[in-house]
Amino acid sequence: MESKKAKIILDKDFRIGKIDERIYGSFIEHLGRAVYGGIYEPGHPEADENGFRKDVIEMVKELKVPIVRYPGGNFVSGYNWEDGVGPLEKRPRKLELAWRTIETNKVGTNEFMKWCKSTGTDVMMAVNLGTRGADDARNLVEYCNHPSGSYWSDLRIAHGYKEPHKIKTWCLGNEMDGPWQIGHKTAEEYGRLACETAKVMKLVDPSIELVACGSSSIGMATFPEWEATVLDHTYDYIDYISMHQYFGNPEKDTANFLASSMDMDAFIKTVISTCDYVKAKHRSNKTINLSFDEWNVWFHSHKADSEREPWSIAPPQLEDIYTFEDALLVGSMLITMLKHADRVKMACLAQLVNVIAPIMTSNGGGSWRQTIFYPYMHTSIYGRGYALNPIISSPVYSNGHYNDVPVLDATAVYNGEKDEITIFAVNKDLLDNISLQCDLRSFQGYKVIEHIVLENDDIYAVNTEENPNNVVPHNRGNAKLIGGTLNADLSKLSWNVIRLAKK
Ligand code: AHR
Repeated sequence: MESKKAKIILDKDFRIGKIDERIYGSFIEHLGRAVYGGIYEPGHPEADENGFRKDVIEMVKELKVPIVRYPGGNFVSGYNWEDGVGPLEKRPRKLELAWRTIETNKVGTNEFMKWCKSTGTDVMMAVNLGTRGADDARNLVEYCNHPSGSYWSDLRIAHGYKEPHKIKTWCLGNEMDGPWQIGHKTAEEYGRLACETAKVMKLVDPSIELVACGSSSIGMATFPEWEATVLDHTYDYIDYISMHQYFGNPEKDTANFLASSMDMDAFIKTVISTCDYVKAKHRSNKTINLSFDEWNVWFHSHKADSEREPWSIAPPQLEDIYTFEDALLVGSMLITMLKHADRVKMACLAQLVNVIAPIMTSNGGGSWRQTIFYPYMHTSIYGRGYALNPIISSPVYSNGHYNDVPVLDATAVYNGEKDEITIFAVNKDLLDNISLQCDLRSFQGYKVIEHIVLENDDIYAVNTEENPNNVVPHNRGNAKLIGGTLNADLSKLSWNVIRLAKK
């Protein structure tokens, strides 16, 4: 087997910024079997007293998910939040127009908050700016966050929730630039609505943080003019602009697919520039940060979804079965966001359970971890602290519409509290291992704790209920420290986590 050589220089002082743990967030939408049959399945042997599946809660805890976006997604643009609170028997069954199903409203805001408590996660709540507007949004903030003594806060108390939910992070609608969105708007229309909605939401609770909708993908014809216009209207009232991006590989071109994290990088850079352009235009001291609140691989389920009949309850929708190859790109996407940790402050792997998700369940049956679970878990657990700025020399390849793609995609995190360094690396080479040399410079006196590797001879290998451990990481990587230099072989097409701690 041939080896290619690559080099990294790491220094304690080369820092990008402190990582906001919310970069490891995820997403639960009222869509398919994410809620019903995913997190919630009363009558299941694993259900707790609230009907939530304990096996799923345990897996979410394994991922250490700090924040979960809810309740959509496209769903939120047609949702009346009042349908999902109060006595269960009075909740209406409604036609859900975004995904064309029946929504039973058995789970709503209060139940979801209960679930978040059981999993130890915060919520990023989205308001409906599709069919609704400022009035319903401010009522929801009052219902959730106001302590008592007003109509909506007293209603929450009457519903059995004495303490306010204290939800800090709120999304001003979802993908309002997309023609598929219920209540799709132009940038001018959305910018004005988002500004006025933000104003009243912050009048109810000035401690909240708001995310305005950016573009639904880098490919939108209105990108980045959409961001410039929306920010022009909302700059003083919001805190983050959202980004969404999904990649797919229907052509089965691995080299091209793995290179697509470069598009994510370009997308982030352009949104940062646009935010800073509007900052300069407004002579503002405030910096708008990025909330990459939908990202993942999504394409495997497109055909099945296009053939499904409408109006059933919780049908299997967007159930991508992820391959080993998908896990490599997910690893690269995580590395890309860590490289921008100074500006990407929140991100949500879309989604969390059953719907384009790292966790799968079967109704009445078991639960298992998809391939993409592992890079997400590794970064969430070990990627806390400071994002370092590694200087990387790597061979490159060109394929499809990508030129000079480094075969080594890597970054590193320094956790000052534990005095640990973690290197995350993907070898994108289809044929060759990488012989990596890492100059640790100011990091002296460390030892290798472990070198975790996710590799597989079959790029299309998947995990299933019957064979849940087909693609799992091992920790038999060969990283070694000799003097101040770390040496490691990174196998062709592999995800690597090299952990170092002070001796
Ligand atoms: O995550 C699935 C869908 O993708 C979301 O509902 C929507 O926001 C995006 O288009």
